[in-house]
Amino acid sequence: MAMKKILITGGAGYIGSHTAIAMVNSGFEPVILDDFSNSEKSMLVGLRDILGRDIQCYEGNCNDKTFLEQVFAENDFLGVIHFAAFKAVGESTQKPLKYYANNIGSLLVLLETMEKFEVKNLVFSSSCTVYGQPDVLPVLESTPRKDAESPYGNTKKIGEDILRDYIKSKPGARAIALRYFNPIGAHPSAAIGELPLGVPANLVPFITQTAVGIREKLTLYGNDYDTVDGTCVRDYIHVMDLADAHVKALEYLAQQELDFFDLFNVGTGNGNTVLEVIHAFEKVSGMPLNYQVGPRRPGDVEKTWANTDKINSKLGWKAQYSLEDSLRDSWKWQQKLEESRVLK
Ligand SMILES: NC(=O)c1ccc[n+]([C@@H]2O[C@H](COP(=O)([O-])OP(=O)(O)OC[C@H]3O[C@@H](n4cnc5c(N)ncnc54)[C@H](O)[C@@H]3O)[C@@H](O)[C@H]2O)c1
Repeated sequence: MAMKKILITGGAGYIGSHTAIAMVNSGFEPVILDDFSNSEKSMLVGLRDILGRDIQCYEGNCNDKTFLEQVFAENDFLGVIHFAAFKAVGESTQKPLKYYANNIGSLLVLLETMEKFEVKNLVFSSSCTVYGQPDVLPVLESTPRKDAESPYGNTKKIGEDILRDYIKSKPGARAIALRYFNPIGAHPSAAIGELPLGVPANLVPFITQTAVGIREKLTLYGNDYDTVDGTCVRDYIHVMDLADAHVKALEYLAQQELDFFDLFNVGTGNGNTVLEVIHAFEKVSGMPLNYQVGPRRPGDVEKTWANTDKINSKLGWKAQYSLEDSLRDSWKWQQKLEESRVLK
């Protein structure tokens, strides 16, 4: 069992917590490291409710070399999944140094520690933001990346570059960067899910918060784009499917014998407009949504969705959940949050 231990940095966060479940279900032993800068300890309780036991968790900062070395000294890791990062695009334009320090700093300290303890396999959270507005859709991994629209997006581009350079220099080291499209949904039990701080910047948490009455109405950012109904198109992927892609990536890395670096899109391969998502939500929740159309939001990409051929064929992974499944689970999770808020 010891050889199948996986360190999950940022494991108390939205995607990390779901990945911890997927890891256990595939016979790995996840160990969470999180400083709870953007998550709550209640996530660990949710994990326990799902798994019927605790997951080992270290509380601390991934930029703290002494702490990281202590964690590696106490465990024999087969690999690491590195989620720990700040992710608020808007805040990153106001506080770029905070984003570079955390997102790049943590990756550097992690790689140094992995090198020191000879841990070879790393899965890195990248993002479709590295493509900007792609010239050709669906977007392929080989599509040239565009200039980042935000310091946050740039930390993902730089992260990919650091990994490529590191792997070239280090015989036997292996990494996969997963470029996530738009994660939504929650564990079907509603024991864990996304905890957006403040006003959500993403569509689905805004929809569910509006439906539950936390927000008065949803404003669509523009309906004059060149899409079927004028609203922006994204590739929405259920977080359970995304979690599973990390298991597949890790298993693939562990089979490699030489140094290895590759990039994979993780999406469904389908695009949906904002209006399609709203209508699908109204259908699964049985509730009409209060929304209005506002002006375009600067920096928004008009349309993007993934070509998933590479991850389908190389990693044997394919999204299983539909948009309706994802929205149903997001809605269940929001209702559960609301129940616990009312009970407090
Ligand atoms: N959610 C998305 O839409 C999305 C899309 C593309 C990429 N990503 C990337 O996926 C990763 C996970 O995203 P998420 O949505 O789960 O975010 P999240 O904020 O829910 O999870 C990140 C976790 O990392 C922790 N953390 C941050 N900095 C840390 C540090 N220095 N040391 C220890 N812990 C730290 C936070 O407390 C949080 O629990 C991030 O790297 C993010 O940039 C997310």
